[in-house]
Amino acid sequence: MNIQWYPGHMTKAKRAMKEDIKLIDLIIELVDARVPLSSRNPDIDELGAGKARMVLLNKSDLADERFNNAWESYFVAQGCHVVKVNSKSGAGLKQINSVVQEACKEKIERDRRRGILNRPVRAMVVGIPNVGKSTFINSFAGKACAKTGNRPGVTKGNQWIRLNKSLELLDTPGILWPKFEDQQVGIRLALIGSVNDQILNKDELAMELIGFLTKEYPQVLFEKYEIETKDPLEALRQVARARACLAKGGELDLVKASNLLIDDFRNGKLGRMTLEFPGQ
Ligand code: G4P
Repeated sequence: MNIQWYPGHMTKAKRAMKEDIKLIDLIIELVDARVPLSSRNPDIDELGAGKARMVLLNKSDLADERFNNAWESYFVAQGCHVVKVNSKSGAGLKQINSVVQEACKEKIERDRRRGILNRPVRAMVVGIPNVGKSTFINSFAGKACAKTGNRPGVTKGNQWIRLNKSLELLDTPGILWPKFEDQQVGIRLALIGSVNDQILNKDELAMELIGFLTKEYPQVLFEKYEIETKDPLEALRQVARARACLAKGGELDLVKASNLLIDDFRNGKLGRMTLEFPGQ
């Protein structure tokens, strides 16, 4: 399967982000906890050079808790401050303020030495599409926040949200695009819904998912669909039978079955799962 996806407006967005990044102290990078590496854009290291870094393992409710912990250690070893969150329910968000202070300790100390007291940390949320940036900003900033009005330098239309006396957030997240040469990365991004569905061959993607489940979570296929075969096509047929996906004339509708299976995975109905592992 060959997934190609490279939006033309990426260079422009990157340039705008570069300007905004000059104004901030901290980058809050959201990744999808099910694919924490594939859902990053490597440009962020260059864009964020010299800034404090925080990684939020978002959608941690959908990922396998054993691997959430392993990924947390992985990013900590890279010098990032890490919090596991579920932006939808709000779980984990309470920890963020104290972790922000910890991540920006040096800046706060530097300000103090210069006699600048209580200047809020300024942060920007970044991440690839669909990783949960808007959900995060809405849950984290909530209704309690007040926009601080336009200030010079911020990209037109953007504003700062004052969260409390020690933290201000840029109200518009920075969108990064996934970058991949490795097709496996493309497949993982397609599975979590970060690559436009229309460019995908859904039954091939479903068979990739089946192959992964057979290897890593074999009991799920058996419990949900009574699948025992290791042959992906036969397994997909079994999904179609189990979910009564029939086309006209009574034939199995494999595309419908593929969509159902992929949606079940995306919505967590197959259980909590992680698609990639540190050190893989
Ligand atoms: P983006 O700005 O980065 O593009 O992402 P956005 O916030 O729009 O979130 C994309 C989808 O991910 C949304 O689902 C959102 O509800 C869901 N989401 C975000 N964070 C979490 C999380 O921590 N856990 C879970 N389980 N889901 C999360 P949607 O289906 O597009 O919308 P909706 O049905 O939730 O309204």
